[in-house]
Amino acid sequence: MIQVRAVDKSYTLPGQKIPVLKKVSLDVAEGEFVAIMGPSGTGKSTLLNLLGCLDVADTGSLILDQNTISKMDDRALADIRNRKLGFVFQSTSFVDYLDLPDNVAMPGFYSGMSRAESRQRAIELLKQVGLGHRLSHLPGQLSGGESQRVAIARALFNRPRLLLADEPTGNLDSRNSGEIVKMLRDLNTEGLTIVLITHDETVAKAADKIFFMQDGKIEASCNASQ
Ligand SMILES: Nc1ncnc2c1ncn2[C@@H]1O[C@H](COP(=O)(O)OP(=O)(O)O)[C@@H](O)[C@H]1O
Ligand SMILES: [Mg+2]
Repeated sequence: MIQVRAVDKSYTLPGQKIPVLKKVSLDVAEGEFVAIMGPSGTGKSTLLNLLGCLDVADTGSLILDQNTISKMDDRALADIRNRKLGFVFQSTSFVDYLDLPDNVAMPGFYSGMSRAESRQRAIELLKQVGLGHRLSHLPGQLSGGESQRVAIARALFNRPRLLLADEPTGNLDSRNSGEIVKMLRDLNTEGLTIVLITHDETVAKAADKIFFMQDGKIEASCNASQ
C-alpha cells in the first residue's frame, strides 16, 4: 500500500534550512495496521503529512496504492487525498453550528453528492461509531471521546483505502482511548490500512507493527505482539 524510499524533507525558514526527515524508508502492506512512535519533534507528523499528500518530499520516492505521489502536482495530490485517504488528528475540527450528520457529510458536499444522500451516509457512519443516539447534537455538546468518534466517521465518509491518524487519542483518558483503539482495530479487521502516530505504548500495541523514529530517521521496527 505504501512504499517510502530514501525520503528527505526539510523546512525552509528565513535564512536557514531545517532538515527534518533524513533518508526515511518504510513499507506498509495493504491491510496492515502500523504505529509510529518517537520523541516530539522527531518528524512523525511531517512523515504522516507526506503520506497524506498534504506536503511533498524534497527527494526520494513515495508510492501510495501504486501511485507515485512524489511526482504529482497539487491537483493530482488533492484527488488522491479525496478518493483514497481519511485523516484523524489529535484535535478535532468541526463546524460548530452544523449538527453531527452535516459535519460528517462535509466530504460529500465537496464532492457534489446531494445533501439527502450525504446525510444518509453520515447517519449510517454515526451509527457505526456508536453515536446513533446523538444525531441532532452539535459538536460542542460532545465529550472528547465522542468528538473523536465523529472525526473517525467523517474520515470514513469517502470509503478511504488508508486511514492516517496523528495522535488521535492524545487528548483522551485511558477508557476513551481504549474505545477509539478498539474502533480502529475493528476497521482494520474489515480491511482498512491504518498508519497511527502515538505516544502511548498501550495504543501502539493495538497495531501489527511499530516503527520507532528518532532524529528524522526510522531507527527500528518490531511486531507489536512481541
Ligand atoms: N511548517 C513547518 N515549518 C518549519 N518547521 C517545521 C514545520 N513543521 C514542523 N517543523 C519542525 O520540524 C520538526 C519535526 O516536526 P514534526 O514532524 O511535527 O515532529 P513530531 O510530529 O515527531 O513531533 C520540528 O523541529 C518542528 O519544529
Ligand atoms: Mg506530531
